[in-house]
Parts: sequence; C-alpha cells; structure tokens
Amino acid sequence: MSSADVSPPTLKLKAEVPLDKEIESIIKSGKAKRASNYQQAVYGPDPEGLKILPEGARLRLLESGVDISKGYPAKPNAEAIPVYLDEAYAIRNEEYPYVERGKNADPEKKALFAAATAVIPLTKHVGTELVGVQLADLNDKQKDELALLIAERIVVVFKDQKLSHQKQLELGEYWGQVEKHPQTIQVPGFPGITTIWVDYSRSKGNSVSFKNVDLGNWDPKYNGGASTTTHTDLVHEKQPAGLTSLHHDSSPDVGGDTLFYSGYAAYDKLSEEFKRFLDGKKAVYVSAHGYLDRNDPFAGPKKIERVHPLVRTHPATGWKFLFVNRSMTKRILGVSPVESDIILKYLFDIYEKNADIQARVKWGPIKLGYGTTAIWDNRVSQHRTTWDHEAKSTSRHGTRVTALAEIPYFDPNSKSQREALGLPLDE
Ligand SMILES: [Fe+2]
Repeated sequence: MSSADVSPPTLKLKAEVPLDKEIESIIKSGKAKRASNYQQAVYGPDPEGLKILPEGARLRLLESGVDISKGYPAKPNAEAIPVYLDEAYAIRNEEYPYVERGKNADPEKKALFAAATAVIPLTKHVGTELVGVQLADLNDKQKDELALLIAERIVVVFKDQKLSHQKQLELGEYWGQVEKHPQTIQVPGFPGITTIWVDYSRSKGNSVSFKNVDLGNWDPKYNGGASTTTHTDLVHEKQPAGLTSLHHDSSPDVGGDTLFYSGYAAYDKLSEEFKRFLDGKKAVYVSAHGYLDRNDPFAGPKKIERVHPLVRTHPATGWKFLFVNRSMTKRILGVSPVESDIILKYLFDIYEKNADIQARVKWGPIKLGYGTTAIWDNRVSQHRTTWDHEAKSTSRHGTRVTALAEIPYFDPNSKSQREALGLPLDE
C-alpha cells in the first residue's frame, strides 16, 4: 500500500465557481440558515401570520385594499436579500437630495394648530399630542409646520386616526426618501412600510420574556437588536433616519408603551467643558442586521459600518444634539479604544438615566377601525418599547414608515437647545 492511499480526504471545491458565489447560491437556495433575528424566518408572504392577525390590523388592510391573499406579513424573498456586506453597504450609498420641510415653516405653526382642538404637552420638554387633527387631511403647509413641531418636541402623537397604508406612505415620502429595508417584515406590496408586530416575531422564535426583555439595556450583546433596547433606527445609513411614523392599528388597552428620549437635552446635560471636547468628534455607527464578509465568509455575519459626527446640528431647529445609542455606536474616532468605551458608556447613560428628558407614548385604547400614530424625529432621539403586556394580549400591531434625512453634519456655530431658548445652563 502506498502512502497516497491512506492520506485523509480533502475538501474539494468546484474549481470553476468562486467560493463566495458558491456560498451565496447555497444561502439563497435555502439550504443554509440565513443570519436572521428569528430562528424560523419565512420569505415572501406568510400564510401563518394571518392566523394571529389582530382584527384592527386586518380591517385596515382590507380598507386600504392591500392584497393579503397569499399571506401577511411579507419578508423579502430570500433571493432579494443581500448576502454580502459589500452588497448591503452599496444600498443607498449615493447622496439623495433632501429637502428639510421644517426649515422654512411658520415657527408659530398657525395653520397646523388652527386645525387642532387641543395641543397637549406629554412632558415639559418632550412630546406633544395634537387632538382633533386627521393626518390624512393635512395640506403641505401644515405638513411643513408639523415637521418643525416634531423636530422641536421629538415626538408628536395623534389618536383616533383613520390612516390608510397609502396615506402613511405618502406622508413619509413628503418628508424624505422612504427607507425600504432589505430584511424586515413588511406590508405585502409596500416595501416602504415595515410591520411592527412582536407577537409575530415570537411565533417565529424570538425568545422575548419577562426576565430577558431589558438585558440589552445593560449590554447589547444580550438581545441588543430587540426593540426594548434603547436605540435610534438606521444610524448606519449614509443619510440616517429622520421623521418616522408608527401607526398602531391595534394595541392592548394598557401596556406596550414606547419611550422617547431627547438628544438635544442629552447634549445639554453635559458640562460646557465636556461639550467642547465632544463637538466635532466623529464615531462609527453600525447596522442592526449582519452580512457576510466576501473575503472571510466563515467569520460569520458582520455589521455595516458608517462614520458620522457624534454631535450633530439639526437643519430645521439649528440646535445641537448628541447622536449616540448603546447598540449601534461602536467607537469614537481620535481617542484610544479604552477612552472611547468609557466615554460612550457615559453618553449612553446620559440618554437613558435622565427622566426629565423623556416622554412615554401610550397607544391604547384603540377603537376598532382607528389607530394611534406617533411621529418622531429619529435624528434627535432614542426610543424603546416596553413588553409589559407579556403576550397575554396578542393585539399589538403597527406599521412604520421612515423618511431618511440629510447627510449628518456638525455646524460649530450652532447652539444647543437650552442656549437657543434662553434656558439656564447651571452647572
Ligand atoms: Fe426602533
């Protein structure tokens, strides 16, 4: 017996197909489990979702004329989802013209407020509820004023809304380029409308529970992609998220609130000396979803990375704000990794631990056939949901439309909110 006869078998690759292409075809054929938030992701419309669809959500889909005959919600087909980081990075990597609708709006917002029967602050500095206004009926002047109001107040809430999917999308398109997510569940036929539905993700293997629901707020490696971890949406985009609407067409009467935190106020919580240190710094921001590195596919999923200013200036208000969040801001450029970790941890805490810079939005109770809409400015805020309904109610269901905004910038001559409003900056 020659030595050649006992040599171990060697992995043979098809020489004519590059390795990355072979992996891509295996993943897209469904033979390999794709990196996903859920363990049992379904691609395309999901007939199983219809079985647990809340009545209010079903009614609105029917009234909007959305075709759910093949299932609901829909996830992009497996072939359409990018496998590699370079493909995902290339999505919207070109500058897209952006018009800041709030910039030249009437600062008194007379047209918008004239349509309201009441204007109710949710807290002193964050959040406003407009009563008596139907979003579907707003004219362009009122939409401009609303954009400014949201930029100033972080989040604006509208109850008893009759808002079709088409009208929700139209509003987003008025305020910017609507984001179409390559991976998340969405309304069939409307890739710009993301479905927010925790009971569905639980039915697919999301293991949220009373014990683990907030662990990401200590360290994002514990379920950091969950919506209960305080975060800002889509910070890895070249032009990150701006005005974002979330319309709940179904909600428990009590529970499932969303909290919003002000980035202007987070900045103003810092000492004047520390503000000066942070002004002009840049940081690396990452995506929530992961993709494979074509040159190192066996290393597992990696996140899209993008560099933005750590302190930004809002184009409508002109105010400075702190642009960080615990799960998606990775490192500050120009300081050591240890310094970056310590500073970022402090900045995350500033956002999350100050109760006077946040507001809590209650979605319910919702009348069948109506909904509650909250529109927030994703640039100047963080948000998180609560999961106190603990799946005892299966009724929390919403749709989200995100308008992408400007390429982030820092204007060294811009002021903080409290400076601009003449509020005390006592230390
Ligand atoms: Fe979010």
